[in-house]
Amino acid sequence: MKSLAILASGSGSNAENIIRYFSHSEFIKVAVVLSNNAGAGVHNRAKVLGIPSLTFSREEFAAGDVILETLKAYQVDFVVLAGFLSKVADGLIEAFPRKIVNIHPALLPRYGGKGMYGMHVHRAVLAAGDRESGITIHYIDEHYDEGPVIYQATCPVLPDDSPESLCERVHELEHKWYPKVIEDLLTD
Ligand code: GRF
Repeated sequence: MKSLAILASGSGSNAENIIRYFSHSEFIKVAVVLSNNAGAGVHNRAKVLGIPSLTFSREEFAAGDVILETLKAYQVDFVVLAGFLSKVADGLIEAFPRKIVNIHPALLPRYGGKGMYGMHVHRAVLAAGDRESGITIHYIDEHYDEGPVIYQATCPVLPDDSPESLCERVHELEHKWYPKVIEDLLTD
């Protein structure tokens, strides 16, 4: 059995979707959710699904040692970022080589980097007049949004899209693909 940790800062719809997807798996389970935000929606979603969720400060995530100890305590094999807005410590990246993945709500390398998160991304895609957006699932390295791409899927940008309607379409793609891609990576 492989154990996942999910790191999330916000609403946690991807976290919930991944927990549900693997809840009957014989091979993969979500062991714990870690957050840098005690008020994040992800805690309630995890609670309802019976998964422990813990909060650590930004500083603890940046330093990494307490996080590493926690991941060891839960015997975590693989780390999934799902709307996680804090930096991942270099020590964590070294301890989990090619075992930390992130999802970005656009087609990297466009619309990545500092400040490009949440609605900022969808607003930028609309402002550029792009006809297509999508998702990028990638490994984490020490640079924001620059780790090797694992998988991309696209969706159209419609003429009357608002950032919210585009966000919703992108979220559907995230929910469809993120668990499957994680499963593939862990069962290869
Ligand atoms: C997603 O759009 C993801 O791509 C980005 O943060 C958002 C998290 O959404 N990294 P949710 O909290 O899972 O609903």
